[in-house]
Amino acid sequence: MTDSMKKCAARGRIAVFASGNGSNAENIIRYFREADRGAEVVLVVTNKADARVIARTGRLGVDCRVMTAAEIRDPERMLPLLESYGIDLIVLAGFLLMVPPFLISRYPDRIINIHPALLPKFGGKGMYGRHVHEAVVAAGERKSGITVHFVSEKYDEGRIIAQVSTAVGPSDTPADVEAKIHRLEQENFPRIIRETFYK
Ligand code: GRF
Repeated sequence: MTDSMKKCAARGRIAVFASGNGSNAENIIRYFREADRGAEVVLVVTNKADARVIARTGRLGVDCRVMTAAEIRDPERMLPLLESYGIDLIVLAGFLLMVPPFLISRYPDRIINIHPALLPKFGGKGMYGRHVHEAVVAAGERKSGITVHFVSEKYDEGRIIAQVSTAVGPSDTPADVEAKIHRLEQENFPRIIRETFYK
């Protein structure tokens, strides 16, 4: 094997799981394409047939699988799929299903999630999308941020990898906070993935 073949063979192969808009999925795909950053996104999995992430992924020429919740929970469907793509890291980016325990056992410390608040605050059941930012504003918080963490069997409770925070002003609405968090995600999430797994 030549050196360049070895380098190629050692590149990470990421699967992104997303249920909705897919702005993070798209941003991660683009980031790892822009330069040789040690990995590439080779697969997107979604559980929603009308998710915007499907069109984004299609435009970028990345394979996208739409799977039902039952298929995602079926090891005989999921594991061969991920193995056929040589996946070494699963990134949840707005994925609203629980990750089945067999996946957590098969990919120890190789499944991560991004949460749009500073965990352990504002995490757990019901804390997704705009609800998170509404809760942050209602609690009078003066800062919020993003948390990238390992996925465990308990929602939003896996070991924290990185957090980045931003100020919340007294007159900020939930929509304002959402926009700030969106910017933080775009600026930081792909870099955190690279620095944690592919450096
Ligand atoms: C992001 O805010 C992320 O933190 C959360 O879900 C949202 C997904 O947004 N887990 P998008 O689908 O990537 O645009």
